[in-house]
Amino acid sequence: MSAWQLKNTMIDIPVLTIDGPSGSGKGTVAQLMAKDLGWHYLDSGALYRVLAQASIKHGVELGDESSISTLAKNLDVVFLVKSGELEVLLEGWNVTTLIRSEQAGNAASKVAALPLVRNALLERQRDFRQLPGLVTDGRDMGTVVFPDASYKIFLNASAEVRGQRRYKQLKEKGIECNISDLITEISERDERDRNRTVAPLRPATDAIQLDSTSLGIESVFDRVRAILR
Ligand code: C5P
Repeated sequence: MSAWQLKNTMIDIPVLTIDGPSGSGKGTVAQLMAKDLGWHYLDSGALYRVLAQASIKHGVELGDESSISTLAKNLDVVFLVKSGELEVLLEGWNVTTLIRSEQAGNAASKVAALPLVRNALLERQRDFRQLPGLVTDGRDMGTVVFPDASYKIFLNASAEVRGQRRYKQLKEKGIECNISDLITEISERDERDRNRTVAPLRPATDAIQLDSTSLGIESVFDRVRAILR
């Protein structure tokens, strides 16, 4: 198969992108959709979280763009799905719980603001586009990584509801947190994600926008499923 044919075959592989801020419910809905469709799943935020963890592990400053982009190119990360849950290994080390804290999210958003770093992770994310299809969630999946995606959703919710959801999620994972600190950290992270110069958090012009403030996950899932039909 020629490179041209291969490229066109790749483009025919359907992609559903679900972008939105932290706590909008995008990760849960994306995982449910991937299971429902029998498609692959990419949690792009986990890549940035693991990369921030790798930087800390190797003693690299979170603003050191050149060193972090080198780490990104060589990042040894493995995603496994075990009993329906995503397990993440960094250099063979299980970082599944470690990368989920709000501090890890904040560190991720610092490395994610660096243009060379985003560029270094681009092809790695696109490699997840495999048959029969891909469901992916993040901030720039519909705008930058998969601009030709077949279906694009942008999920939002009020800051207060997002804070409460994150609090519940972290508690369930056994991660200690304080609700008011959490809301402050989420707001700082949103601010950084929305205002960075490269791939800022914003809906793609052809994305369907949903507000999950007063909707349960099941209702959001039903709506996304109806959109795909
Ligand atoms: O989605 P999650 O909260 O795990 O993402 C952690 C951080 O990684 C985000 O706050 C954002 O800065 C960054 N990120 C990104 N682009 C993506 C996914 C995540 O910049 N596609």
